[in-house]
Amino acid sequence: MAYVKTQEEQDAILKGGLLLGAILEDLGKMVRPGITTLEIDIEAERRIRDVGGIPAFKGYAPSGYTPFPGTICACVDDEIVHGIPSHRVLIEGQIFSIDIGMQYPANSGLGQGGNGFFTDTAITVPVGEINSQAQQLLSVTKKSLDNAIAVATNGTSVADIGRVIERYIEPQGYGIVRDLVGHGVGHEVHEDPAVPNYYESYLEKKILVPGVVIAIEPMITVGDYRTDVLDDGWTIVTDDGSLAAHFEHTIIITAEGEPIIATKRPSEK
Ligand code: MF3
Ligand code: CO
Ligand code: CO
Repeated sequence: MAYVKTQEEQDAILKGGLLLGAILEDLGKMVRPGITTLEIDIEAERRIRDVGGIPAFKGYAPSGYTPFPGTICACVDDEIVHGIPSHRVLIEGQIFSIDIGMQYPANSGLGQGGNGFFTDTAITVPVGEINSQAQQLLSVTKKSLDNAIAVATNGTSVADIGRVIERYIEPQGYGIVRDLVGHGVGHEVHEDPAVPNYYESYLEKKILVPGVVIAIEPMITVGDYRTDVLDDGWTIVTDDGSLAAHFEHTIIITAEGEPIIATKRPSEK
């Protein structure tokens, strides 16, 4: 299977992922009322370059898109993913998601352009004190990711991941975003296989085997699952304006037991 990574590739992904997880945790601690999303973005780029990596999203330009300008995707409240960092000031009571990707190790001669391999991870955090509805959304979204990671074992399929997320989320009345999905990651930010956060019988059931590296990233809404795109061409928001949360980890499938969480944050150890 083409999407199985070699041991050398897995080692670089794990090393880069752990560095990125530590950076993301620190960025999360910067979040407070009064800070701008651009201040967090600037610190993100500084930290990535400091460890010998390259921001993966900066300049990323799928066909039909203008290059993404940020190191992080910065999303407030009803923004789900791909928000552009700006001079917008965060306000008490909001929720804020930080999604970050890194190519590592830069200038190693390995991977795309000799700049190493990609990892991708995200958290959603409170801005000061938040209400219980927002708190619930954050914990449910995080738990759905943890549940999905636990089933991502040798021999299961990407469909099993979607199924476990759907079975946990839908009975609680939340929406699962369908327009965006998780993905293989490593040689590029986005590669095969697609990793949906929902289950449909017609979806491909790619089997997970040791050395497969995927990013699992449930995007969960308080209201309807449908999305819209802002005029900036990038920011994906909930169509009904309801709150959305997003958590993401890059994981490596192992021969036995639970996968390695490449982007594990220090507080998760
Ligand atoms: N981080 C996103 C994902 O999890 C991709 C961001 S691409 C960007 O798949 F260009 F918007 F940054
Ligand atoms: Co991401
Ligand atoms: Co991703």
